[in-house]
Amino acid sequence: MSTTPRFRIIEVSVPPSLDAEPSAAIIARSEIETEALREVLGHDDLADPPSTIVAGLADQRHSKKLMLAAVEDDGDTGQPRDPAQILGYAGFMLPTDDNVHLAVGDVMVRSSARRRGVGTALWEAAQDRLRAEGRTTVSAWTAHAPTVRDGVETLEAATGVGTIAATDAAARFAVRHGFALEQTERQSTLRVPVDPSQVAAWRAEAQGKAGEDYRVVQWQEGTPAQWLEPMAELNRRMSTDAPTGGIDFQEETWDAERVRHNDEHIAARGHRYVLSAVEHVPGGTLVAYTMLVMPRAKPEVAYQETTIVHGEHRGKRLGLLVKAANLELLADAYPAVRRIHTWNAGENDHMLAINIRMGFELASVEGAWQVRLDASGTADAAVGPGKESVASQPAPAG
Ligand SMILES: CC(C)(COP(=O)(O)OP(=O)(O)OC[C@H]1O[C@@H](n2cnc3c(N)ncnc32)[C@H](O)[C@@H]1OP(=O)(O)O)[C@@H](O)C(=O)NCCC(=O)NCCS
Repeated sequence: MSTTPRFRIIEVSVPPSLDAEPSAAIIARSEIETEALREVLGHDDLADPPSTIVAGLADQRHSKKLMLAAVEDDGDTGQPRDPAQILGYAGFMLPTDDNVHLAVGDVMVRSSARRRGVGTALWEAAQDRLRAEGRTTVSAWTAHAPTVRDGVETLEAATGVGTIAATDAAARFAVRHGFALEQTERQSTLRVPVDPSQVAAWRAEAQGKAGEDYRVVQWQEGTPAQWLEPMAELNRRMSTDAPTGGIDFQEETWDAERVRHNDEHIAARGHRYVLSAVEHVPGGTLVAYTMLVMPRAKPEVAYQETTIVHGEHRGKRLGLLVKAANLELLADAYPAVRRIHTWNAGENDHMLAINIRMGFELASVEGAWQVRLDASGTADAAVGPGKESVASQPAPAG
């Protein structure tokens, strides 16, 4: 691939198996991501260890994965052997069952290697590869401080909700390369445990409002066979119901196999989960669920993934019901967890209202960016209308 006198861009080999030894490039990716997240957030709760990155790249069943790396030029031409040789990386996920126009990912550069054109070279090489894969739209999420200091120039999302500092390196880089800021997400954190009597009171209140037709069902790790199809249906709806602003994210195709595979994928990444759902007893199906994912490598941390209530069953406090029930299950099964991190579209008032009531506090803001790739080789800022989100772990939600 392309070379310069100072660094070369390589395509990183896909790991041969979900549990393969991490290569130098993958170790470097974990280091670079950890450094970048610490810079903005002051902690590395959201960064993946190398083994999680290996499993994410090796699993290409429902999306293709692409990783490029900028390698300090040492006259060599092969895959690098030392993580310190890697100056930055570009990582993209290319859905293959649906959303085949889209690539979702990011570009990250070691702080010691910035403003040398490394990010630009990675992005240019990535565009060529993404075009060759037939992708026309690229979206990326960037992390920013929760508030912008007085007097600092800001950028407002196309949704009109949420601002980030226009002076942040990530914002400057994205704007320079033609990305438009379509949406912002509030990343907020709940300190746990929450007083058990408070959680029980929320659950009782919500169950009282919902009535006897609705019953909580819970599981960990593997979806029971009887709920595979209902979970597929809820996940399909999640892909269209959560606000995604102008990000051109289209309906996902889900079936029982994909739900089962998702369970396997979570385990392969070194994560475990607790899930609380609501059965609509007269209909015999699930109408709501919420899920918390816990990385084995960080016992104090949980990530909030999907929360959804089926459109025909909203307004009955089922959102509060599943979230309170899941906090109880978490406290019981994973008492070491101290922080739950969540991401919500800034305009997702209903979900935010529940989270704020439960004590989630704003911790950072994510910018959701999009650019269209034209066939000729230049990127055009995207226009147009978005999801209750997820993170490098593409967007968690709830
Ligand atoms: C954003 C990031 C990838 C840029 O990498 P980089 O190698 O420093 O980028 P480049 O040297 O190619 O810079 C390209 C242009 O972006 C803009 N830019 C990048 N960093 C900037 C900064 N700190 N201040 C102002 N402009 C900046 C400039 O226009 C720059 O061109 P110039 O140097 O000719 O003025 C890097 O800062 C980073 O890894 N940040 C943390 C992770 C992140 O947020 N990534 C973005 C996710 S998509």
